[in-house]
Amino acid sequence: MKNNIEKSNFLKCQHVSLEVSNVDKSLEFYRNFLYMKLTERHKAGEHKDIPFEMAFLRLNEQHHDLVLTHNPNRNYTKKNDQNSPAGIHHFAFECSTRDIFLFYLSRARELNLKIVRGPVIHSSFNKNGDGTWGENESFYVLDPDNHRIEIFCDMAVINKKGEYINTDSLVVPDTIAEEI
Ligand SMILES: [Fe+2]
Repeated sequence: MKNNIEKSNFLKCQHVSLEVSNVDKSLEFYRNFLYMKLTERHKAGEHKDIPFEMAFLRLNEQHHDLVLTHNPNRNYTKKNDQNSPAGIHHFAFECSTRDIFLFYLSRARELNLKIVRGPVIHSSFNKNGDGTWGENESFYVLDPDNHRIEIFCDMAVINKKGEYINTDSLVVPDTIAEEI
């Protein structure tokens, strides 16, 4: 392995496990909005090492992409923007095309979900961009516990020289990754 990029090729960032106040409510949300499927669900204490409820949800073939956990002995309060403990700010689902992104945007509107930000293009290069980073087009909604979810498409990729390549295969001017 010559450098850190080659080392990092061994990994991909994959599932998120969320603590939720009500597994049924969250299951309904993720099934309805994102068409996720339940792989398996277990009661608290069903396994001697797992004193909390767990539900494993998948998008495709992989056993789980999202895990919902609920500890019946814990008091849950909703996250809010002003007064939350340190934790995950948001997590994101990538759409393979912009058409799919637009489908989920209309799906969110159809379900009357509150879109807390966007749709927005995170770019200082794109003439419609908001001056932020990543080149991706995104919108953000909240789940039943106010976990912030980003739905996005078209994020830049970083080539071997550290240049940002946008979805039209163009080098984004004046951008270079901090580490190559
Ligand atoms: Fe993000």
